[in-house]
Amino acid sequence: MAYSEKVKDHYQNPRNVGEIENASGVGTVGNAKCGDIMRMYLDIDDATGIIKDCKFKTFGCGAAVATSSMATELVKGKTIQDALKVTNKAVMEALDGLPPIKIHCSLLAEQAIHAALWNYAEKKGIKIEGLEKPVNDVSELEDGDEE
Ligand code: FES
Repeated sequence: MAYSEKVKDHYQNPRNVGEIENASGVGTVGNAKCGDIMRMYLDIDDATGIIKDCKFKTFGCGAAVATSSMATELVKGKTIQDALKVTNKAVMEALDGLPPIKIHCSLLAEQAIHAALWNYAEKKGIKIEGLEKPVNDVSELEDGDEE
């Protein structure tokens, strides 16, 4: 299976690894099928809704590391609304694609961002337009490969 240069780069030198103390929002999601877990931390400016900083920790496969690294780069500096457009597809495109068997790994990155935004909204008592309650286990979102 072939990985793009960008995937290899983000896997070998992941950006924004770590934690944010007193983060505005923290989200953790996993995939019960492969056992991988990702946690995303967001630092959000309350007045402007801009994501000032984003860090992650991933206990997972190489593609999960690369997608979370790219996802942090994509949401940094964006408004909450624009961060919602950072879907797993957008992350994959930014990485020049993923092998089909690894597509599900990019869902972890998307859902971890959503979970962190959800956590922020709950803490603030606000509603984020267009944000649906994230799942804890992203394998629930994959279709077609049940059993
Ligand atoms: Fe589980 Fe990649 S194999 S996230």
